[in-house]
Amino acid sequence: MRTIGVFDSGVGGISVLKEILCEFPNDNIIYFGDSLYAPYGDKNIDEIRELCLKVSDFLVFNKKVDALVIACNTATGAAIDIMQTRYTLPVVGVVNNGVKEALNITKNNSIGIIATPATVRMNIYNDTILNAAPMSSVFQVECPQLVKLIENGWVDSIESNNLIKSYIDSFPENIDTLILGCTHYPLISQYISRHFLGNIVNPANETSKSLKKLIGEGEKNINVSKTFFVSGDLLKFKKVAEEFLEQPIKDIRKIIL
Ligand code: DGL
Repeated sequence: MRTIGVFDSGVGGISVLKEILCEFPNDNIIYFGDSLYAPYGDKNIDEIRELCLKVSDFLVFNKKVDALVIACNTATGAAIDIMQTRYTLPVVGVVNNGVKEALNITKNNSIGIIATPATVRMNIYNDTILNAAPMSSVFQVECPQLVKLIENGWVDSIESNNLIKSYIDSFPENIDTLILGCTHYPLISQYISRHFLGNIVNPANETSKSLKKLIGEGEKNINVSKTFFVSGDLLKFKKVAEEFLEQPIKDIRKIIL
């Protein structure tokens, strides 16, 4: 029986995990939330890379996963190339999958991205979009405050709405498609959609489909396990993750790598 490893800096990867669970009902899942070190997006690239490799080495060498999903844009930007050469198993990230979907649905090739400061700094969305569709206009806005608020349990308040609005208002009017370039943001997409009326892209959908293309369907199995590892506050992670996952998390362990 196969095991798919999924990781993020915290609860954001739950937005990807949800899609993975739908696409791969027969596979075991190990999710790692590195919440002790979240947010990754405020750190420098070398630091992010080092944190990511600790987690991915744990999943690959210690837990012997059969495929790895980098359910984090910041980690994808910092480390996907290294991981794809370091391991002999399929490794998928979220960025090229988000771009693929955005380019499929945009009508005017004016694409906005909201992401962490590190993702914006690495320019991965900009470069991936322009590589695939050079005539596109790409606008990136970093949203340094969102991850912490989501990790702590999002509160739908006037302040939090104004914060989202202030980020969205930074885009030019002609943007017709917005990529949620941080896996935490799909968890609050219902609030983002109050302020952005165009297409909203959650890269998780294409990410799980791209993994399906690589590894196919797992063999029928009714005893699948879902194990969660978290490096930070276990109870806080569990509460927020269960809310977004819409199911109880039974097997969760704290570990600091
Ligand atoms: N959820 C992650 C991302 O997609 C990282 C958020 C963070 O830790 O800054 O970029």
